[in-house]
Parts: sequence; structure tokens; C-alpha cells
Amino acid sequence: MQAVILVGGQGTRLRPITYDIPKALVPLRNRPFMGYMLDFLRSGGLEGAVLSLGYLPDPIQGYLAGCDLGGFSVDYAVEDHALGTAGGIKNAGRYLDGGPVVVVNGDVLSGMDLRKAIDRHLNSDALATITLTSVEDPTAYGLVEVDHDMLVHRFIEKPAYDEITTNLVNAGVYVLEPEVLDMIPAGREVSIEREIFPELQARGRLRAHVSSSYWRDIGTPRSYLAASQDVLSGVVGAGDGFDYLDVCDSTRLGDSVRLLPPVSVAAGCEVADEATIGGRTAIGRDCRVGSGAVVEGSVLLDGAEVEPGAVVRGSIIGPEARVGQNAIVRGLAVLGARAVVGEGNVLDQGIRVNPGVVLPPRSIRF
Ligand code: GTP
Repeated sequence: MQAVILVGGQGTRLRPITYDIPKALVPLRNRPFMGYMLDFLRSGGLEGAVLSLGYLPDPIQGYLAGCDLGGFSVDYAVEDHALGTAGGIKNAGRYLDGGPVVVVNGDVLSGMDLRKAIDRHLNSDALATITLTSVEDPTAYGLVEVDHDMLVHRFIEKPAYDEITTNLVNAGVYVLEPEVLDMIPAGREVSIEREIFPELQARGRLRAHVSSSYWRDIGTPRSYLAASQDVLSGVVGAGDGFDYLDVCDSTRLGDSVRLLPPVSVAAGCEVADEATIGGRTAIGRDCRVGSGAVVEGSVLLDGAEVEPGAVVRGSIIGPEARVGQNAIVRGLAVLGARAVVGEGNVLDQGIRVNPGVVLPPRSIRF
């Protein structure tokens, strides 16, 4: 069986990181997300995938060209304008073999047993099976109500608290019969969630499969950071030889550096004297952390720099961005690529700094 991986979206909720890096390639423990996605599909017994691409397709194709896929086939269907989640599946159709197909949102990190979902689908009369997962706060998601034999009977989009009747949400992993592709109009933007699933539900041909395994989408700074911390902690995606202290040999460590696992430090980094790296932090290639600086619970993307005495906590620092001396970046702040936070600034409360923006010294304090 083949998969279609939907990776054509712009990832607006994860801006400014996704201005430069497509969501499919943001790293978790210094490995692009797409690597985990392919492991997930392979572990489900799939033989290949069609990537449904639109926004920033080249880096994704470039990454996969450099991977040893071990016989797993990959094809690319690139849109010249956004076709939406169903349009993207339709556009991938020319590479499919005409049988049932697994479709995954390309921003879902999941530990579910895909084979169980496929078996349930194949042993039912459904034209499509949606996998569901339970979440603590369903208000940000599309809820899916099912009856006792897993027939879907209602969708509730981003409910208010008093509309919450279930905590089961669409997990972004589907099994579709080929007839579903015939239902999708060609050449225009079509949403599978809003247009195709409601039609299948009305025809009584949409079923659900509930998984209680690990699940998280990586589409917002909060969920991306949480996914990064989960992978660092080995909760999900831990391959052979997983180690809580994953520090590349080429890292130059100064004196009295404190590395508090789980951490991952990629090649070519420099960590100066008395710096602290820890508490579920991932540091990309060629980063520099100055003396006495503290980086905790954060992601530093390739080439980022944290100057002496600066503190980065629970935040995302984009590629080649710089946190100046004694600056504090905390509380889910996100710096875009090459952004510069001048000396002594304090950033907090989810502030996002666009790529290349330079904040003069001591200009912001929360
Ligand atoms: P936001 O802009 O933050 O909502 O992100 P997104 O549109 O990238 O992701 P969303 O969660 O809305 O979409 C679910 C999946 O479908 C993601 O993996 C997207 O990459 C993908 N996707 C969304 N729109 C399109 C599209 O027009 N074409 C294709 N091929 N994929 C899409």
C-alpha cells in the first residue's frame, strides 16, 4: 500500500520559522521531521509515498534525495497553486496504484500502529477511515463524534467550551478507498475535512479508528517545542542507540560547561566556559553558546548564536539568529532566521521576531 503525505501548506502558525524551513523539515533532536514521518509509514508496512508539495518544495526533495530510503519509493506531486488538503491528494493520484491509500498530514508526529487502522478500514464497508486521538483541550481542534460502532456522525469545528461533547479529534491520518479520489473535483482548492468528509459522513460511509498512542501535531511553536522535548526525552521516535546525551564529537566544550540531559548538540558547535545546556534542549549545527550563557528547554536551529551571559528558556531560535549579551529570551519566544536580539533585551510571552529583524540593545523589556 502507498501513502500520500500532505506537505504543501505554508505552515503559517509556525512562522517565522516556516518562512525559511518548510514545516516538514523542522528538526526534532537534530533530525528533520520528515525522517520520523517516513519511519512511521515504514513501520506501518507501507511500500512508498507520494509527497504532495506546494510551498518550499525544493528543500524537501533535496533532503529526501540525500536519504537512504531502503527501497521505500518516493514520488513528488508539486502544485503550482495551493489545492488544499483534498486537492493535494487528487493531484498525487497519477502516482498511485488504484488501491486503497493512506493519507497523512505532514505535520503529525505519531506513535500509533498504522497497521491496526488499515486493518480496521479494510474489514469495514467504509469509503474512508479517519484516525482519532483524544486531546486535553479540544477547543483548538475539529472534534469528531462517533457512534457505538465507530460510524462518524458529526463534526464540530473548534468548539466553544459548552459545545464540547467529545475529546476525540481528527489525528490527520486517513485510509481512503480510490472512490474518494473520484469525489474530489480537479483543479481547484478542496478541503478534505470541510468538503469531502462531511459528504462521506452524510452517505454513512465514513468510519473512525481511535488510537491512544502518542500523538502531537507540530504546527505551532508550542506544539513544535513540546514535540522536540518529547523526542529528546525518548517518549517517541527513539531509534536504535538512543542516548539522552547526544553530543556530536566535533563539539568544542569549554571549562565547567554543564550539559544536563536530555540534550542533543549537532556537529560543529562551540559551547564556552561555564555555559549551561540542558533541560530538553536541541542545538543545531555550527551554533555558538557564549560563556556563562544558559539554554534550557529550547531549540537552536543551525548557526544560531547565544552570546555570553544570555538566557534562552522554552524558546525557538531560528537559523543564524543571534541573542545578544545578557539578553533574556523566554516564554515561547520565536526568532526568525538571522534575527538579532541586541544586548540586554528581554523577550517573553510568545513574541515572534521576523527573519532578519534587528532589535537594538535594551529596546524591549517585558
Ligand atoms: P497553517 O498555515 O499553520 O494552518 O499550516 P498548514 O496549512 O501547513 O497545515 P494544516 O495543518 O492547515 O494542514 C494539514 C497538512 O496539509 C499540512 O501537512 C500541510 O502541509 C498540508 N496542506 C495544507 N494545505 C495544503 C495544500 O494546499 N496542498 C498540499 N499539498 N498540502 C497542503
